[in-house]
Amino acid sequence: MSAEAFFAQTKEGNYPITVGVGLEKELVVAVKETDAVRVAVIADQTVGLKWGPSVLATLANAGITAELFTFPAGEKYKTQETVTNFQNQLLRKRFGRDTLILALGGGVVGDVAGYVAATFLRGVPFIQMPTTLLAMVDSSIGGKVGVDTEYGKNTIGAFWQPQAVIADIAFLKGLPKREFVSGLLEAVKSFFTADKEALALVDALDLDDPLSTEKELQDAVVRAAKFKAGVVARDEREENERRILNFGHTVGHAIELLSGYAMPHGFAVGYGMLVETKIAEDLGILSPEDRAVVAKYLVRFGIAPEGLKEFGADDVLETMKGDKKTRGGAIHCVLLSGIGSVSTEGGQFAHPVAEDVIRKAYRSLLPA
Ligand SMILES: NC(=O)c1ccc[n+]([C@@H]2O[C@H](COP(=O)([O-])OP(=O)(O)OC[C@H]3O[C@@H](n4cnc5c(N)ncnc54)[C@H](O)[C@@H]3O)[C@@H](O)[C@H]2O)c1
Repeated sequence: MSAEAFFAQTKEGNYPITVGVGLEKELVVAVKETDAVRVAVIADQTVGLKWGPSVLATLANAGITAELFTFPAGEKYKTQETVTNFQNQLLRKRFGRDTLILALGGGVVGDVAGYVAATFLRGVPFIQMPTTLLAMVDSSIGGKVGVDTEYGKNTIGAFWQPQAVIADIAFLKGLPKREFVSGLLEAVKSFFTADKEALALVDALDLDDPLSTEKELQDAVVRAAKFKAGVVARDEREENERRILNFGHTVGHAIELLSGYAMPHGFAVGYGMLVETKIAEDLGILSPEDRAVVAKYLVRFGIAPEGLKEFGADDVLETMKGDKKTRGGAIHCVLLSGIGSVSTEGGQFAHPVAEDVIRKAYRSLLPA
């Protein structure tokens, strides 16, 4: 199957997103187009060990000087300390303004490496080479980079657009199923809000061996990535439409935080979608039939109301109140109005929801 390439538009210019299997040539072209002289490949230790040598070999064979830098895997290392560490290593090794940062990894690596790129010598170019499904369909696109702090997720960061996104789905071979499903839930989130037809691709995927359904997998990545790129092009700074990407995230972020980040991001968003669709139904925005479709979908990925029992409705509410998605003191949610559409009442993509409504919806989902 041939690779598919399209462009993401930003205020500073467009960058290409390429999705396919075996994208070594595309990587070399993208790196050469930046005019960089030295490449710093940033990966976590898992990805660095598994894919670092082949990426370095691809670059070396093309005459590109590159060096691998790694940090321990996991959300708990998405910190200022990790970023400072990389900044210091690059300075110590005398990397200059002719540096290109290559983010090789999942969303954590993309966010960290992108933030290093945004800040190193007041900003150097970077390329996103996502290795998780979540990073391919979501986090590698749109230019949000940054780190978590004790005050919350992604609380320090910047907007810094990549020069290119090279999404080689061959990297997904051997990605743990839990991580694959986590990414798929982000894609499903996009399809629920805006692309009903793409759900058929998700239905056709083999979750145990995704590359055996390579065509559907590539098509699903392309559709989710195009959707994200389109939304971001229209609303780069999340003034309104970009909030559509937060469907399931208001409740989801709170659950992720309460789990101590033990729950993968996509699963937390899955539980968020479960609750936020119930809110939409209770408000008379979503039909009970459509909510049942969402709930049935989520069960296939292991997201069922039983899982909500682990977190109390009041704790979830309190945590939500501290989230960035709270505006003017009110909790805001993206509300599904059907499969493939959201409420845009008043021209808004996220709507204030009363705490009582959230509490009631959450509690009513809990099995007796
Ligand atoms: N910037 C954005 O717009 C944006 C959007 C959504 C999510 N995010 C962020 O993305 C992060 C989650 O990303 P994630 O789910 O990719 O997590 P992750 O980067 O932690 O990767 C998950 C795990 O998979 C491993 N891994 C990665 N690629 C692999 C491969 N090919 N084979 C085997 N193992 C591999 C990693 O080592 C890690 O242990 C969160 O920090 C979230 O906040 C950012």
